Amino acid sequence: MNQDLKNDRFLRALRREPTDTTPIWVMRQAGRYLPEYRATRARAGSFMALAQHPELACEVTLQPLERFDLDAAILFSDILTVPDAMGLGLSFAAGEGPQFARPVRNAADIDRLGVPDMEGELRYVTDAVRLIRRELQGRVPLIGFSGSPWTLACYMVEGQGSRDFATLKAMCWNEPALAHRLLDVLARSVAQYLAAQAVAGAQALMIFDTWGGLLGPAPFREFSLRYMAQVVDTLKTNAHARELPVILFSKGAGMHLPTMADTGCAALGVDWTIDLDQARRAVAGKVALQGNLDPAVLRSNPDTIRRETRAVLDSYGNHPGHVFNLGHGITPEVDPEHVKVLVDEVHSYGRTLRMT
Ligand code: CP3
Repeated sequence: MNQDLKNDRFLRALRREPTDTTPIWVMRQAGRYLPEYRATRARAGSFMALAQHPELACEVTLQPLERFDLDAAILFSDILTVPDAMGLGLSFAAGEGPQFARPVRNAADIDRLGVPDMEGELRYVTDAVRLIRRELQGRVPLIGFSGSPWTLACYMVEGQGSRDFATLKAMCWNEPALAHRLLDVLARSVAQYLAAQAVAGAQALMIFDTWGGLLGPAPFREFSLRYMAQVVDTLKTNAHARELPVILFSKGAGMHLPTMADTGCAALGVDWTIDLDQARRAVAGKVALQGNLDPAVLRSNPDTIRRETRAVLDSYGNHPGHVFNLGHGITPEVDPEHVKVLVDEVHSYGRTLRMT
């Protein structure tokens, strides 16, 4: 199925097969730190116009691959496309975070929600996937993605970004049945969304659970992990999606890696608050790991970036199953030259590590 791929390091690492060096891609690799991204976004008029225009989304997806020797592309889109397609009215005010015109607050709001039509409201996403696959011409695999049900619910109930998403957390304590109804419709939507991306040509799938780490251990299992597991289970019933590796990334949830590894996913994303060596022992060879350089390191200098990059590679060691990444998304003020230093160091040091 992936025989046409010229570089399959990323998919091999996800299968925990040997590779010549460690593969790398960077969360938010297409974004504001790149002047060419800012130029295309200006042409589009807004972030949402950019995401909803398949030719422009394809253009910005490929931009970081022109500059850096990355081992995977990631669809240019956003996790909040799904709630937008559910009718919540998403906008990004200039210089601010996301905003929903119609947040979800009560039973009536939740009863109105349905699984969006993947070839209707979300057709622009599958169109972008098809176009990017064609333009990539097998250079590297394409990652499709979604937010986790929990993380999407955080934004939908709060109506905007927040430090603690206390409105949804309050609903979990006050009206748990309501929270579960919301999370269930989101899990069904996310599974269909990811399956549609698989059918359109995505070659790996990632679920971003950015706010899973806000929950204590038992609530994490009840409100976040359980619904990611439901998504993974549903994907196994789809003829296309069942072939694809799924990466789960819960930020700030290092202590949950062993239970997350039992969901049937292929890999776990890891942030920088846990050593890869410890994370690798915690998952006991069940899954590959993706991570985990602190993105703030990219604000330092080339020598420090090389040193910290080698420390991450050494921490995982000479074992199969490591995909290098940052522990969270790259930030807008990073110098693109520093990303080149990072990518080249991962490949050159990763190669020497394989020989030890
Ligand atoms: O990784 C990639 O290059 C693919 C594109 C991608 C974007 N968002 C583009 C984007 C991906 C994978 C996402 C995921 C996403 N979006 C997450 C999960 C990952 C994470 O970072 O934790 C979350 C929580 C969101 C929601 C979101 N989208 C927020 C909070 C914001 C505003 C904050 C910010 O960084 O400006 C966005 C906007 C957004 N999504 C931008 C990009 C490039 C910036 C918008 C702009 O160009 O002004």
